[in-house]
Amino acid sequence: MSIKILIVFGSSKGRTGRIAEILSDALAEKGLTTVLKNVFEARPEELLEYRYIVLGSSTYGQGDLQSDFLDFERGMDDLDLTGIKAAIFGSGNSRYAYYAEAVDILEAKVKIQGARLVLPSFRQDMMMESPEGEEVFQWAQELANAIVSDAGSDIK
Ligand SMILES: Cc1cc2nc3c(=O)[nH]c(=O)nc-3n(C[C@H](O)[C@H](O)[C@H](O)COP(=O)(O)O)c2cc1C
Repeated sequence: MSIKILIVFGSSKGRTGRIAEILSDALAEKGLTTVLKNVFEARPEELLEYRYIVLGSSTYGQGDLQSDFLDFERGMDDLDLTGIKAAIFGSGNSRYAYYAEAVDILEAKVKIQGARLVLPSFRQDMMMESPEGEEVFQWAQELANAIVSDAGSDIK
């Protein structure tokens, strides 16, 4: 059975986008099928077509979502995500008071709409790490393993 995963990211300078690409490649290497979309070309309703969704946003303003993600997040208000497993990531900078707050916003959102997190979220601190850093690849492996194991436990 092929497992299809939707990855949606919002990124102003490309850092969260680069993380999203690394995640997509790592999942594909494990034989999983990924659809990778920039949030400005995605519709919230598309989330309902997948059992696994991965959402990523960088943080701007006073701990806000990346600007392209604002409408998408509001558009999730009426979605019933019950039964869907989610994972959340984002790039931020720990120099700011609201460090990587977009990750907390998206976590809260998917949970309120009924989804469950498949693993703890990932925050990439651009003060300390690069989007190509080891932490990203490590989380990518954890994500792939969590999805494979979750999908396996459902088949039993
Ligand atoms: C005007 C401005 C405001 C920012 N505000 C925050 C913030 O509140 N919290 C945070 O963690 N990072 C903040 N950042 C840092 C970005 O989130 C960080 O540079 C991130 O790597 C950008 O990722 P992106 O290229 O995917 O958009 C801010 C950056 C700028 C330029």
